[in-house]
Amino acid sequence: MENVKTTEAQRIICYTGEKVILRPIHPEEDFPFLWKWINDASINRFLNTIAPKSSDDVKEHIDNMSKSDKNLLFAIETKNDHTFIGTMGVNRIDWTSGVGTTGSIIGNKDYWGKGYGTDAKMLVLHHVFHRLNLRRINSSVIQYNKRSAGCLLKCGYKKEGVRKQMFYREGKYWNQILFRIFRDEFDPLWKQYQKRIT
Ligand SMILES: CC(C)(COP(=O)(O)OP(=O)(O)OC[C@H]1O[C@@H](n2cnc3c(N)ncnc32)[C@H](O)[C@@H]1OP(=O)(O)O)[C@@H](O)C(=O)NCCC(=O)NCCS
Repeated sequence: MENVKTTEAQRIICYTGEKVILRPIHPEEDFPFLWKWINDASINRFLNTIAPKSSDDVKEHIDNMSKSDKNLLFAIETKNDHTFIGTMGVNRIDWTSGVGTTGSIIGNKDYWGKGYGTDAKMLVLHHVFHRLNLRRINSSVIQYNKRSAGCLLKCGYKKEGVRKQMFYREGKYWNQILFRIFRDEFDPLWKQYQKRIT
C-alpha cells in the first residue's frame, strides 16, 4: 500500500512538533491504513485488541472515537513530507476526575524507534493537560513492548504497577505494566520541549 500524503487543500494542522504534525482523522482516506495496521500481526501483538478485525469493527471504532466526548483521536503525519504514519488518542476520559488513557499506533514500521512516537505524545499530552485541563493520564503496555514503555518514560510517565498475567499472547501469559503521568510531572518536560520547537 502506497504511503498517503495529504494535499495542501486537505491540510488542517492541530499541532506541529519536532518531527510530526497532528491533524484530525480523515475517515475515508485514513481508514484503509488503520484497518491494515490493526490487522498486521507484527503490530497487533502490541495492542489490547485481538485481530482479525472486520472493516465494520474498525469503522465503528473510528466513529465512536469521533462522536463521544470521552475519546479523541489525532492522525500523525511526518512534518517534512506529510506522510500519514499513525494515530494517537486519549480514551475513557473522565471529565469529573480529569483522567484519561493514551493509546498509540505508528503503523508505518519504517518510522518505529526514531522518536516520532515520543514527539507525537508530547503534543497529545500538551493538548490534554493544557487545552482540555485533564490532570492525570494513564497508559499501559504488554510486558514485552519495550519500545512503547521507552516512549512513555521519555515523555515523563512513571511506572505505577504491574497486573500479573493479564494477556495471553503467543502461547504465554504476559504482565500488563501500568504507567501514569500527572500534569505537574509533565510541565517541566514541556517547557524544555517548547524551547526545542520554537
Ligand atoms: C509504541 C510506539 C507508538 C512508540 O513510538 P516510536 O516512535 O517507535 O518510539 P520512540 O522512538 O519515540 O521511543 C522509543 C524509545 O524506546 C526505546 N526502546 C526501544 N526498544 C527498546 C528496548 N528493547 N528496551 C529499552 N528501550 C527500548 C528506544 O530506544 C526509544 O528511546 P530513545 O529515543 O531514548 O532511544 C510505536 O513504536 C508503535 O506504534 N508500535 C506498535 C504499536 C504499539 O506498540 N502501540 C502501543 C501499544 S501500548
